[in-house]
Amino acid sequence: MGDTAKTVARKQLPLRPAGPDTVAALLDWYDRERRDLPWRAKRGRRTDAYRVWLSEIMLQQTTVKAVIPYYERFLRRWPTVDALAAADLDDVLSAWAGLGYYSRARNLHKCAQAVVAEHGGQFPRTEEGLASLPGIGPYTAAAIAAIAFGEPATPVDGNIERVVSRLFAFRQPLPGAKREIKRLAATLTPQRRAGDFAQAMMDLGATICSPRKPSCLMCPLQQDCHAHALGIEEQLPVKLVKPDRPVRYGIAFLALSEDGRVLLRKRPEAGLLGGMLEVPSTDWGDDWLPVDQALVAQPVRADWWSVPGVVSHTFTHFRLEVMVLRAIVEADSSLTFWASPDRCRWVARRDLGSAALPSVMRKVIAHALKEH
Ligand code: ADE
Repeated sequence: MGDTAKTVARKQLPLRPAGPDTVAALLDWYDRERRDLPWRAKRGRRTDAYRVWLSEIMLQQTTVKAVIPYYERFLRRWPTVDALAAADLDDVLSAWAGLGYYSRARNLHKCAQAVVAEHGGQFPRTEEGLASLPGIGPYTAAAIAAIAFGEPATPVDGNIERVVSRLFAFRQPLPGAKREIKRLAATLTPQRRAGDFAQAMMDLGATICSPRKPSCLMCPLQQDCHAHALGIEEQLPVKLVKPDRPVRYGIAFLALSEDGRVLLRKRPEAGLLGGMLEVPSTDWGDDWLPVDQALVAQPVRADWWSVPGVVSHTFTHFRLEVMVLRAIVEADSSLTFWASPDRCRWVARRDLGSAALPSVMRKVIAHALKEH
C-alpha cells in the first residue's frame, strides 16, 4: 500500500500557517504545563547564565532524566563559573563520568576558564559572543542567549526539528533540511519570552509531539498543525536512512591484585574518552586478535582467564565488542611496556565509583567481576 493510501486528510486545507497565535497558544500551554526542571527559573524570572550553560552542555545527546543528578551535583560542588574554572580537570572528568561524550567535560572546563579570563566572569549575551567560546556551537549559543538573556534567538534541537517539521508539514529529509527548518522556527520566535518559547517547544517535543504516536488530541497546537491536518504527523520528520555503525573489537585485561585493587590506565588526553581511565586493552580493530597477539598488550605478565561473554557498547560512530581476560596478580608485579607506569594506577574497588571511568569501562569491570 502506498503512502497516499494510508494517509487520511483530517481537515480541509488551506489552514493558516503557524504564526503569532500559535506562539501565544504554546506559551499559555507552557505556563500551565511546563516541566519542573532544576535549571529552570521561577515563572517570570530568568536563570543565571552559568546554570543555563551547564544544563545545556549536559543535555547535548543526553536525556533530561540522566542529566538531573549530574547537574545538581556539579552545582553543589562548583556553584559559580569561577569555582568551576578553578577546579582540577581530573575532578571535573571524574564528576562527569557516566554522562558520555567526554570532550564536553574538557570543553566545559576550558569554557569556564575562558569566561573568567577573557570576559571577567560574565558570559557574553549575544549568540555570536557565546559561540566564540569552547564547546558552544550554534544550538547552545542560541539556547543560552534566549533562556538566560531573553534574546530573540532560535535554538533548534531534535525535538524542535520534529515540532517544526510537523507544524509546517515540511517534508524535505534531514539532515539536509536543517537550515530550512531553522529558518521556519525563527519565523515563530517572539521578541518577548524567546527563552520560554524555546523551552516550550522542547517540552512539547519531549511530551506530546513524540516521534511515534504523538498525542495530538492533547496538543495545544493541534489547530495549527499542517501535518496533523494532512494525517502525516507520524511520517515527519523524514530522515535519510543512516548506514549501520561499523563494529570494532578489543580484548581488555582486568588485573586484580590480591588485596582487591584493579589496574587502570589513563587514556591519552586527545581523542575518544580523552583523559579518562580505562581497563588496559588491545587496540580496537576490525576483528579480535588471536590470543598470542593480544597478549602483547597485557599490562602485567600473568595467567589470564577469559571471562565468558562479550561486553557491547555503542558510541556515536561505531559499536565496540570487548572480550575480557582476568588475572589475579601481586600488586607490585612489574608493568609491561603497554602499561607504561606513568599512565597506570591501582585503584581500590571501593574507589571505582568516584573514578573517571566512562560507562563502557564500568561495563567491562562489572562483567569481569560479576562472580568475584
Ligand atoms: N533539552 C535541551 N535544553 C533543554 C531545556 N532547557 N529544557 C528541557 N529540555 C532541554
